Amino acid sequence: MIESRIKQTVRDVNDFPKPGIIFKDITPILKDPGLCRDITVALAEQLSNVDIDVVAGIESRGFLFGPSLAQLLNVPFIPIRKAGKLPYKTIQQSYDLEYGSATIECHQDALLKGQKVLVHDDLLATGGTVVAASKLIMQMEATVAAYSFIISLDFLHGRERLKPYGNEVFSLASY
Ligand code: PRP
Ligand code: MG
Repeated sequence: MIESRIKQTVRDVNDFPKPGIIFKDITPILKDPGLCRDITVALAEQLSNVDIDVVAGIESRGFLFGPSLAQLLNVPFIPIRKAGKLPYKTIQQSYDLEYGSATIECHQDALLKGQKVLVHDDLLATGGTVVAASKLIMQMEATVAAYSFIISLDFLHGRERLKPYGNEVFSLASY
């Protein structure tokens, strides 16, 4: 089962990036090409009933599986990046972090009005990142089709935070 294979492979790192946090390190997954392929297929299978025009992946770990998922779904991939990285004209969205704030952006021509966008990231924690991504997509007059994660940390209640957006939240492994 894909969930147990993911959980057996992900490495818990204590006290990173700060004391008290147990970091889910997905880099061991990347060393197993068969598991990477099976994860990509499993992500696509969860989405078989969702109408998707574009996959948007969130920097940086959303770039690991986002493009291969988009290729399997046979749709374009667009990068949502931290501010200041994209070369062309951008649309921005800021969001609050525990301390301070952050800004994400995408190219102003990344999406067409009305496109249905799958938001992909490696992991759902508090949901702050994908809420900001959703607002960015809505700023561009596109819509969020669904959210897709490899891992969701359900004890942080990110799913509840996404409820106002009314879209389905898929993940392969939940904690
Ligand atoms: C991590 C993770 C998600 C986000 C989840 O990324 O990859 O993108 O945090 O947290 P949230 O649901 O509370 O917003 P991070 O910002 O650490 O950057 P990285 O992907 O570049 O490593
Ligand atoms: Mg990230």
